[in-house]
Amino acid sequence: MSENKELLKNGKRIDGRGIEDLRDMEAEVGIFKRADGSGYFRMGNTEAVAAVFGPRELHPKHRQKPKRGILQCRYNLTPFSVEDRKRPGPSRRGKEIGKVSEGALSSIVFLEEFPTATIDVYMEVISADAGTRCVALNAASIALADAGVPMKGLISACAAGKIEDTPVLDLKGEEDKDGQVDLPIAMNAETGDITLLQMDGMTDIDEMDEMLGLAVKGCKKVAEKQREALMKTFEDSK
Ligand code: CDP
Repeated sequence: MSENKELLKNGKRIDGRGIEDLRDMEAEVGIFKRADGSGYFRMGNTEAVAAVFGPRELHPKHRQKPKRGILQCRYNLTPFSVEDRKRPGPSRRGKEIGKVSEGALSSIVFLEEFPTATIDVYMEVISADAGTRCVALNAASIALADAGVPMKGLISACAAGKIEDTPVLDLKGEEDKDGQVDLPIAMNAETGDITLLQMDGMTDIDEMDEMLGLAVKGCKKVAEKQREALMKTFEDSK
C-alpha cells in the first residue's frame, strides 16, 4: 500500500461516499441450475458468484473424516475480472484465500451431521475492485443456504480500512491501492462470532478498534441484504 492520491476531501471519498458508507449492494440466490446451491453478490464494482455441491461422499476415501464432513473452498479471480488480464489458473494468493475462506465458512456449518462427506464451494470473482474475498464469501454464504446446508447462521463479510489517516468502511480499488490499511473480516452477524480477520498496513490499537467497529457495522448491513435475497427466493418458490 502506498499513499500518493487525495482519497478524502471534506469527509467525502473519491466516489462521494462518507466514511461509514458501504458501496451499493446487490444479492441474488439460485443463479446456477446445475449446482445444489448458488449465489451472486455485488458491492460496488466488485462482483462474485458462488456454487455449492454437496454434501456428497468425499473422494479419495482416505481423506474422509469418520466423525464429520469437510468443507472445501476454491477462490478464483477470473482472467477478465481485473484491469490487466490475470493469468488463468491457480495462484498462491488464490490458494491462501481459498484456505481462509474454508475456515470462515466451516465454523457455521453443522459438519458433524455429514461424516465422510464433503461440501464443495466454488467462488469465482467476475469483477474486482477491492474486497473480493469479502464479496466472494457473501455469495458463498447465500449459496450454502440455497443448497439447504444446515448452518448456525449466515457468514457476512466486509472490510474496513484507513485512508488519509482516517478509518473508513468498505474500501474500493483506488482506496485499497493508495490507502494505508485494509482490514477484511467475516462474521456471523447474529451471534457476533468473527470467523475471518486479516489485515495489511500499519495501525495501532485505538484505530484497530475503530476499524473493527466499522467492519462489524458493515457486516450487519451485508447480512440484511443476504437475508432479503434469501427471503425473496423462498417467497418466489411458494
Ligand atoms: O480483493 P481483496 O481486497 O480481498 O484482496 P487484495 O489481495 O487486497 O486485492 C485488492 C484488489 O487488488 C483486488 O480486489 C483487485 O481489485 C486487485 N487485484 C488485481 O488487480 N490483480 C490481482 N492479481 C490481485 C488483486
